[in-house]
Amino acid sequence: MADAPQIPDEAEVRARWGGFAWTAENAAQARTVIARYPEGRQQSAVMPLLDLAQRQVGAETNTQGWLPIPVIEYVAAQLDMPFMRAYEVATFYTMYNLAPVGRFHVQVCGTTPCMLRGSDDVLDACYKRGLKKGATTADGLFTLTEVECLGACANAPMVQINDDNYEDLTFETMTAILDDLAAGKQPKIGPQIDRQTSAPEGGPTATKAMVHENHDYRGEW
Ligand code: FES
Repeated sequence: MADAPQIPDEAEVRARWGGFAWTAENAAQARTVIARYPEGRQQSAVMPLLDLAQRQVGAETNTQGWLPIPVIEYVAAQLDMPFMRAYEVATFYTMYNLAPVGRFHVQVCGTTPCMLRGSDDVLDACYKRGLKKGATTADGLFTLTEVECLGACANAPMVQINDDNYEDLTFETMTAILDDLAAGKQPKIGPQIDRQTSAPEGGPTATKAMVHENHDYRGEW
């Protein structure tokens, strides 16, 4: 089960984020996003604007960002919608963080396919490095969250770290990924075994001619 966030103390949060406003660049981006929707339907932009706001908070805190209540209020006001409607969206999707996270937000999928394929080993690798579910490491580097299916079950077990997926994990490969990130290196994104996306390990076993071109098989049937 995904963990429920602990929403930080509001007075402290208001003192820090009560004056939130878009940067000039993000203000322009917000206008671009809102303009994608028909007149009177600007509330449809709530998801991309909440994401944009979270990224701005992240840039200002050198983390992956989160959505303090005053920031959600700011987005709701821009879209002329009740705060509660924007808050409902922010609390529904795990892509929005309702509490501060670290530089790397490690989201481990613990749903059945990943669990059967070894998500406990992935979590063990996290624990061994000092990560704890629902917490950020003292150095501010890692926040660990267990989440529900992230839609990459064919490559289970997997984690999402910031905007990237790391797949076909073992205890060893997950440890190596965390070590690389802590050392300021970019680990290989995607499958950690020899396969292209979700193709069979070692290469395709059927329709091999499709690997290098959009091959037309119809004449061979
Ligand atoms: S169960 Fe883990 S990605 Fe679907």
